[in-house]
Amino acid sequence: MRRHLEFLEESGHLFVANASGLIAPEKTESLQNQSMVKLRSTDSRDSADNETRRSLVSERGEFKRSAKDKALALEAIAKKVSNCRLCRLCEGRTNAVPGEGSATARVMFIGEGPGATEDELGRPFVGRAGQLLTKIIESGMGLKREDVFIANIVKCRPPENRDPQPDEVAACLPYLNKQIEVIDPEVIIPLGRHSMREFAGVGEKDTISRVRGKVYPVHGRSVIPTFHPAYLLRNPPEKVKVWADIQLAMKELGLPIPKQNGSTP
Ligand code: URA
Ligand code: SF4
Repeated sequence: MRRHLEFLEESGHLFVANASGLIAPEKTESLQNQSMVKLRSTDSRDSADNETRRSLVSERGEFKRSAKDKALALEAIAKKVSNCRLCRLCEGRTNAVPGEGSATARVMFIGEGPGATEDELGRPFVGRAGQLLTKIIESGMGLKREDVFIANIVKCRPPENRDPQPDEVAACLPYLNKQIEVIDPEVIIPLGRHSMREFAGVGEKDTISRVRGKVYPVHGRSVIPTFHPAYLLRNPPEKVKVWADIQLAMKELGLPIPKQNGSTP
């Protein structure tokens, strides 16, 4: 039991522990206050307004770590994710998909959840949508896929690619929270609605069309939501908007925008 609690604490799952009654509320509260990771419970998710929902993003630069420490911390998170059984999505997975990329990435892309190819390979965004994301990163930003970090809101594939349910998201978010805290990126690009709505300043009922095209400052980071690449595969003319959002990201990063040969990525 104690080891389990330590695990929950380390992985930021205190809220989940509290929700399932594993930790006395007073204890949880003090532990939560110590932690910069303030995950909401499923209940607060339903009732909280945007202000109190600003939970996923930690203060930038709050914890300083060396590149090596960051890489080790990410490995430790990935190991926990691979063995995780905190929600029902563990039942149908072949492989959990913790995320991959640079431990010192300046930009993080956050999708919704693994699809079939990702589940098979244990890697994020490697199917058709993933190939388009890679193109956006490489042609659109002039970066390498390994330069950024790519993760998802839930780390295990929802059956039939259904939407992740609120309790599954609540169970899994601490892993992403921790990854954000460790990597400490300047820019976060949520891909699609499910990812977008976890970030402050963006309402749960909002659509990507309504919120995209803007930089949302959240705790010292720039959150720039854009369309999910799977949506772009179905609606290619929308690529031009993603291209505009990517340019916003490049500006935030102070990086030159690579020349396009007349087309969007
Ligand atoms: N779609 C996602 O949201 N994430 C992946 O990893 C792949 C497809
Ligand atoms: Fe654990 Fe997340 Fe997988 Fe659920 S989706 S089992 S919380 S890693």
